[in-house]
Amino acid sequence: MIKLGVNVDHVATLRQARGERYPDPVAWALEAERAGADSITVHLREDRRHIQEHDVIALLERTQTRVNLEMAATPTMVAFALAHLPSDCCLVPEKREELTTEGGLDVTHLQDRLRDIIQALTQGGIRVSLFIDPWAPQVEAAKNCGARVVELHTGRYAQTRGEERRHQELTALIEAAHLAHNLGLQVHAGHGLTHHNVVPVAAIDPMGELNIGHAIVARAVFTGVSEAVASMKRLMHSARRHANQ
Ligand code: PXP
Repeated sequence: MIKLGVNVDHVATLRQARGERYPDPVAWALEAERAGADSITVHLREDRRHIQEHDVIALLERTQTRVNLEMAATPTMVAFALAHLPSDCCLVPEKREELTTEGGLDVTHLQDRLRDIIQALTQGGIRVSLFIDPWAPQVEAAKNCGARVVELHTGRYAQTRGEERRHQELTALIEAAHLAHNLGLQVHAGHGLTHHNVVPVAAIDPMGELNIGHAIVARAVFTGVSEAVASMKRLMHSARRHANQ
């Protein structure tokens, strides 16, 4: 069944906004696991705007599921990952001035560098995914440089207005997912997914996991963590059940 990775970055955003000790993203992650999260995702950004190194270390000590560390493909981050060994690493592009991760990795132009990094992380026992736009050349390049997983960027699908254009973005996701699957890659997706737009993406057959953060944390402000996580999981599972009927 399709899995839900819950990204807890924005719990840390709230903490960092006041430089306080609360809310604790680790405590929040444990609650998310109790409500059905299959893994916990965090992005340790270079500017440390939300998640801090001590959060990652505490998550690795205390969570029961998997920890997916999103990170830039830099020597410093590779050294951090190999020192702490999360189960998964998702390599993402990172710009200091962006509000959030804006586009996928340009794997087609970074193959040699990424191949070495993927090999080093894989030798450490870490499953590596590459966050890419849903475009065939990027999927093929990800396969060529040894990734086991691609995470398809759903940001354009999520932000596009108008039924026809959104359908085009969904088609791009469907085609990229099938290509990746046929190449033997595991298929994940994420970015900008909400309780309102998740169903068509969850229904894509080879989709193994969705990583969702902002919308779940935002909903939890009203409903609490459990309901925000559990309702997302219910939507994903029922999308898949209907797609299989
Ligand atoms: N996947 C990746 C690779 C991301 O960079 C992010 C944002 O940190 C997400 C998923 C989650 O995006 P959102 O917070 O919009 O759900």
